[in-house]
Amino acid sequence: PIKALLFDLDGVIVDTAIYHYQAWRRMANTLGFDITEEFNEQLKGISRTESLEIILAHGGLTISEDHKLALATQKNEWYLELISQMTPAAILPGVTDFFVAVKAAHLKTALGSVSKNARLILERIGMIDDFDSIIDGTKISRGKPDPEVFLKGAAELHVRPDECVVFEDAVAGVEAAKRGGMLAVGIGLPSVLTQADLVVPSLAQLTMEEVFTLSAVDRP
Ligand code: BG6
Ligand code: MG
Repeated sequence: PIKALLFDLDGVIVDTAIYHYQAWRRMANTLGFDITEEFNEQLKGISRTESLEIILAHGGLTISEDHKLALATQKNEWYLELISQMTPAAILPGVTDFFVAVKAAHLKTALGSVSKNARLILERIGMIDDFDSIIDGTKISRGKPDPEVFLKGAAELHVRPDECVVFEDAVAGVEAAKRGGMLAVGIGLPSVLTQADLVVPSLAQLTMEEVFTLSAVDRP
C-alpha cells in the first residue's frame, strides 16, 4: 500500500524552475553565449555544480575551478535576487488543496530536492511545516538521477521505497524515483517524462483516488 508521498520542490510545489533558468541564462550571456528553454530541460533537478558543468560544455568553455566557484556563487546571488519577492502566491496550482487531501488520507510527506535553497523557499511560501521530513541539497552527496535524495526521505519516514510515490517535473527526478524502486507521477508533459507511471499537467488535475490506483497497476 502507499504510505508516503515524496515531493520535488522546484517546478512541483513552487514556480521556481523559471528563475533557475533565468539566472543560468544571465550567466551564459555574460560568458558570450545563450541557452534555450529546450536546453534548460536537462538542467531540471540537476545540482548547481553539475548544471554549471553542462552549461560550460554547451558553450565550449574550459575554465579554472576558482572561476567555476565564482560563477556558481554569482548565479546563486542572481537566483536569490529573483526569488526574494516570493510569497505563497508562487505555490503552483492545486498544491494547497492536494496537501489537504494528503493529510486527510493520513499519508506521510517528504521533500526531496537537490536545492540548497529548499528550506528558505519553504519558509517564504509558508510550507515548511507541511513536510514530515525534508531532504535537500545540504543532506545528500549525489544529485538526481541518483535515488539517494528519495531513499533518504523514505528512510526518515520509516517506509519502504515501494510504499512511496514521488512527484517530479524533471526527467532526472523521475529517473531517480524509478531507480529507487518508487512510483513516479510526472508533473508536465508525457512526451518529456516518459519514465513516469502517470503524468499530469499539474497537481490540480490529480485526485487522491488516482494516486491510490497507481499501486494497483501492474508494473514490470
Ligand atoms: C533543483 C532545480 O531543484 O535544484 C535545479 O531543479 C537546481 O535547477 C538545483 O540547479 C540546485 O538548486 P540550488 O538552489 O542549490 O542552486
Ligand atoms: Mg523540479
